[in-house]
Amino acid sequence: MASRSCFSFSIVCVVAVMAFAILATASNAQPLDPHFYDKVCPAALPAIRKVVEEAVAVEPRMGASLLRLHFHDCFVNGCDGSILLDDTPLFTGEKKAAPNVNSVRGFDVIDRIKDAVNAACGGNVVSCADVVAVAARDSVVAILLQLGGPSYDVLLGRRDARVASQAAANKSIPAPTMDLDGLVSNFASHGLTAQDLVVLSGGHTLGFSRCTNFRDRLYNETATLDASLAAQLRGPCPLAAGDDNLAPLDPTPARFDGGYYGSLLRSRGLLHSDQQLLAGGPSPSPTDALVRFYAANPEAFRRDFADAMVRMGGLITGSGGEIRVDCRKVT
Ligand code: HEM
Ligand SMILES: *[C@@H]1O[C@H](CO)[C@@H](O)[C@H](O)[C@H]1NC(C)=O
Ligand SMILES: *[C@@H]1O[C@H](CO)[C@@H](O)[C@H](O)[C@H]1NC(C)=O
Repeated sequence: MASRSCFSFSIVCVVAVMAFAILATASNAQPLDPHFYDKVCPAALPAIRKVVEEAVAVEPRMGASLLRLHFHDCFVNGCDGSILLDDTPLFTGEKKAAPNVNSVRGFDVIDRIKDAVNAACGGNVVSCADVVAVAARDSVVAILLQLGGPSYDVLLGRRDARVASQAAANKSIPAPTMDLDGLVSNFASHGLTAQDLVVLSGGHTLGFSRCTNFRDRLYNETATLDASLAAQLRGPCPLAAGDDNLAPLDPTPARFDGGYYGSLLRSRGLLHSDQQLLAGGPSPSPTDALVRFYAANPEAFRRDFADAMVRMGGLITGSGGEIRVDCRKVT
């Protein structure tokens, strides 16, 4: 970076810094680069992968949780590690926001990764936002590898935010009660398309939901939920108890496969927002066609998911920021 290599004050340096500042403002961020740490710390990415693989081996669901953590980071003022910040007297952060409280997990694993990376690099050079982005990729791969699936290059060089906002998290992360048009406009507000919505919702091939997020479908909107699945889920999810009991988001919650889309075809989407992707809008809807396409073409789903993750991981707002030492605190 121009500003960092300017050790002596000179007119050349001032011009370089100004040019960099203008560029950074114009693009509203510095460009991300898959080789960002190649020179400064080639040990960084292997160190991240090692901790992720250990964590996923202990608990397969952690792969799902780390994937979701990246999504919830990126959808609130860009992928800037803001979700990791604890509340302070100066701001109320994102951890207790409606979509995250009692739900988002993986913070301890991120702390362990950050310590391992700092040890491997002999210093604090990798941002917490990059740690989350790489951990999300490695989580998908740790599970995919069992099936021989593809990976993708994570673009790197994100900076960590110095502030977090509960209000922004409340309003920027889509809710499971949303209809298709709400989901499409939420994704559009992040610069992502309806196809990205369908592909990235395929993240629900992994992991679990709490009853509180789909109870309506068991007792109320039963018309769009397969009757045998509804009957099966009323056990763990009674009408007035068991909010935090879990059900898998697709039939194989520890396998990154096309099972999610197959579920939608059989009206077995767990969340209202899942089932909305099929027949949730005016017919014929492009999302309907995409759901059918990915159900029939799991290889295309894996490829398009990787591409969409790179787009989601590229959501950056503003410039500046820092590289936090402790991912939970502004340095
Ligand atoms: C399209 C809008 C989306 C909505 C409304 C939504 C909503 C939800 C909800 C309500 C849960 C269950 C949380 C709980 O009960 O504690 C969940 C879980 C999950 N979501 Fe999403 N989600 C969306 C998109 C995504 C995307 C884009 C990804 C990743 C690419 C993703 C990945 C996950 C994963 C992996 C889980 C399981 C987490 C775990 O088991 O710890 N979701 N989602
Ligand atoms: C965010 O949502 C939670 C839960 O609904 C609510 O308690 C909190 O007041 C909201 N925060 C802001 C700043 O809007
Ligand atoms: C059922 O849906 C109605 C209208 O959408 C809502 O007012 C009610 O609270 C829901 N009941 C349950 C049990 O979720």
